[in-house]
Amino acid sequence: MQQRALGLWGALGTLATLATLAARAPGASAAPDLGLWPLPRSVRLSPRLLRLSPEDFALGLDPASKAGPSCVILQEAFRRYYDYIFGYYQRRRGPARFYTDSPLLQLVVSVVHDSECDAFPSLSSDESYALTVKGPVAVLKANQVWGVLRGLETFSQLVYQDPYGTFTINESSITDSPRFPHRGILIDTSRHYLSIKTILKTLDAMAMNKFNVLHWHIVDDQSFPYQSVTFPQLSNKGSYTPSHVYTPTDVREVIEYARLRGIRVLPEFDSPGHTESWGKGQKGLLTPCYDGERPSGAFGPINPALNSTYDFMSRFFSEVSKVFPDEFIHMGGDEVDPECWETNPDIEKFMRSRGFYKDFKKLESFYIEKVLNIIASQRKKSIVWQEVFDNEDKIQPSTIVQVWKDKDYPEEQARVTAAGHPVLLSAPWYLDYITYGEDWRTYYKVDPLRFSGSQEQKQRVLGGEACLWGEYVDSTNLTPRLWPRASAVGERLWSDEKVKSINDAYNRLTVHRCRMVRRGIAAQPLYVGHCEQEYKM
Ligand SMILES: *[C@@H]1O[C@H](CO)[C@@H](O)[C@H](O)[C@H]1NC(C)=O
Ligand SMILES: *[C@@H]1O[C@H](CO)[C@@H](O)[C@H](O)[C@H]1NC(C)=O
Repeated sequence: MQQRALGLWGALGTLATLATLAARAPGASAAPDLGLWPLPRSVRLSPRLLRLSPEDFALGLDPASKAGPSCVILQEAFRRYYDYIFGYYQRRRGPARFYTDSPLLQLVVSVVHDSECDAFPSLSSDESYALTVKGPVAVLKANQVWGVLRGLETFSQLVYQDPYGTFTINESSITDSPRFPHRGILIDTSRHYLSIKTILKTLDAMAMNKFNVLHWHIVDDQSFPYQSVTFPQLSNKGSYTPSHVYTPTDVREVIEYARLRGIRVLPEFDSPGHTESWGKGQKGLLTPCYDGERPSGAFGPINPALNSTYDFMSRFFSEVSKVFPDEFIHMGGDEVDPECWETNPDIEKFMRSRGFYKDFKKLESFYIEKVLNIIASQRKKSIVWQEVFDNEDKIQPSTIVQVWKDKDYPEEQARVTAAGHPVLLSAPWYLDYITYGEDWRTYYKVDPLRFSGSQEQKQRVLGGEACLWGEYVDSTNLTPRLWPRASAVGERLWSDEKVKSINDAYNRLTVHRCRMVRRGIAAQPLYVGHCEQEYKM
């Protein structure tokens, strides 16, 4: 019976290539493909099966654990993973069955080193864990709660239902840790507003793929939905409508929901370009463009020539530094168009007085350096887009440079790391570009360390981010556009560099995508086929 049972699972999970899809004989005997995603560092599965029952199985704490029963991160995670394991499955009707397998009664969790229960995750969080599944008690050990979260995800992925509906897990032993510490998803809430519900759903899906940074590109030219307490006019005038805003309560909710999933929230307030919406609520901030002798009525980037600009920025970033607990702030710095600056006589006067007449790169540097100092004075570290580095602005060696231009990005990585900066890679992972077919394969084949440089340079690669810019994305389509395409990036940033087989990835991702669907994430299909449980609206 077991043979036949496994064969049915094989039908779902062990497609060698796309070409064999049609030829595959139903019922062919094969082990179930669990679809572990991202693949852990070391996985040993034994043929011995254990069964779990929703009534008897419990997630528990080791009495020696450094994080105790009052740890909200663990309480919430236990509840969530119990539901993921049992709640979303349907009881199947079938012949009565006599169990011969041994039971698995408990997963005992232990935080070995320091609790971090009340902390926020950071770049240096320890996400490693070790999981041993043996009857009747499985053990999950991690140095910090962050590793417990990752280990619970893996444990939940190991459990499957056999064709009788019995929850089953192979005895196994897994040790795991991420390859890169920064694994991000960029969302853009300026081109379109995203509901809080959509953002929280994204955090759920991120945790399923072991992502740990939500890069929140919160404002841009088109709208300013961030509700500032210090400068309420920014969103009063700059948001699409009064309801298209993120109140302080909304922002706190996102940050806490993320924290409970071991995810950092990295705010981006991009300037001096990409700031049209700021100008509506903050008069005098943007540069008035001139048409000959007279202002044309249009505005350009933030005005770098006025002291009031830096007074505003100081007060604004003083608030932002308190609202967002992460140690980093992304200050943007990309795509600054000097065209408007060139027309403005006050800018010209300012540049003459500073001794960089007509050198607009120097003007940009002047601004960027001031803002970086403002952020540093708030005891925060900065992340910038690559232009800030390319423009030869004076930046601290610790400033992280995010590489986004697709052209020759390995060369850019080499230059940035040679100059001593940590780097984040996004260039090959702009998920807002969509094509026919399986573009996840292209994302999967990227390796963030494939550039020429010393061992030291390679160590400066902190990871990367999949970016979903919002020109054509809002709450209606964010989830299916992001998943499972971003999952490919997730595995690339988590799993060992030797994990490269695209066929194996296809098989596992197919199962993982159905798992996300079962858990209520509207992840789009990879290719033809079906899920045991299709998406329910
Ligand atoms: C899990 O156990 C089954 C049943 O013994 C076995 O056929 C299968 O190969 C095991 N899975 C793996 C990946 O070893
Ligand atoms: C701006 O501030 C600088 C330095 O504090 C000062 O020297 C300068 O006069 C100020 N400019 C204006 C227009 O107030």
